Amino acid sequence: MPKKLGVGVVGVGVFGEQHAKVYSQLEHVRLIGVADLNETRCAQVAKTFGAKAFGDYNELVARADIDLVAVCTPDDAHLHPVLAALSAGKHVFVEKPFATSVADCTKMASAAELAGRKLTVGQILRFDPRYHVAREAVARGDVGEIVHLTVRRNNQMASADRLGGRTSVLFFLGIHDLDFMNWCVGSKLQRVYCESTRRVLDNADDTYLALVRYENGVIASLEASWVLPRGYGKLEAEAEIVCTNGTVFVDGSANAVRVATSGPVNHPDVTYGPEVAGLSYGALRHQLTHFVDCIRFGGEPLVSPAEAAQAVAGICAMERSLKTGAPVYLGRKPK
Ligand SMILES: NC(=O)c1ccc[n+]([C@@H]2O[C@H](COP(=O)([O-])OP(=O)(O)OC[C@H]3O[C@@H](n4cnc5c(N)ncnc54)[C@H](O)[C@@H]3O)[C@@H](O)[C@H]2O)c1
Repeated sequence: MPKKLGVGVVGVGVFGEQHAKVYSQLEHVRLIGVADLNETRCAQVAKTFGAKAFGDYNELVARADIDLVAVCTPDDAHLHPVLAALSAGKHVFVEKPFATSVADCTKMASAAELAGRKLTVGQILRFDPRYHVAREAVARGDVGEIVHLTVRRNNQMASADRLGGRTSVLFFLGIHDLDFMNWCVGSKLQRVYCESTRRVLDNADDTYLALVRYENGVIASLEASWVLPRGYGKLEAEAEIVCTNGTVFVDGSANAVRVATSGPVNHPDVTYGPEVAGLSYGALRHQLTHFVDCIRFGGEPLVSPAEAAQAVAGICAMERSLKTGAPVYLGRKPK
């Protein structure tokens, strides 16, 4: 029986805390420590999950009893902790987006190759049963070949309140759906065109709409937005994959449970990380268990660095398209 994997989490804000919680509960894992620049936050999360607190992630990743480092720092702060963990010989799970530039993705992927360590990225829709099952139906050929896809993810303003100005909704949410589309289509992105607008928020764009063309001729549209009313109680997300012999529709909205009080109606999360009988349940636990198993038994992670980098390349191209007002080519230009 292999020994328990030692895990450290770098960045224990909103989502890093969820990572720490899941790792603290996994059977074959021991959560050793957490690191965060915010000392109070770091100490509080460490105490909650019985781990040691580190102010400097370099000290955490250097520990001999750590095998796996989860990096949950903000979108534009993944590179340095990932490189530090890989050069210390650790396997790395880094949250999405892999990075906010293709150059940083390349640096991390090359470092993982050089170190001979596993590296994966938190493209969690691949572990959301709704999206996973839809993609399997497409991959089996149940509905023929893809003609076009439409994806959308519209969140409440609370995320923009928290993250606006620090990241864009394209990097925060749109990358989930772009990775899902790329996974379904299985072809390289050829060209993207993007529009955005800012009518509600003052520190970030409200909504992005992008048109995408793949090298195999599939076309797609992507909508990412975070200006639904604060009391709306859920996000609205869906995907439709229209194929030559049928269609697959995903209702990705969090609406299975409705809690109505005298205040706004709430739709608690039942997909990504609800607590059931004292244990974290759902897509995040499944995703982290999958990576732990890949390390323990030598499997290949469902999300490769190259695939995660393709999603980043797509989002970067959308942002370039916004600046230039023109379509941006990523792959072969048609003759
Ligand atoms: N997969 C998903 O569904 C999902 C959901 C939410 C967030 N995320 C991703 O997780 C990451 C974290 O998001 P969040 O919402 O938790 O952000 P957050 O701002 O709540 O937390 C980030 C934490 O990182 C810490 N930090 C920043 N730089 C650091 C450094 N150099 N060393 C140590 N700590 C540092 C901050 O102090 C903060 O506590 C982002 O990349 C985000 O896109 C993924």
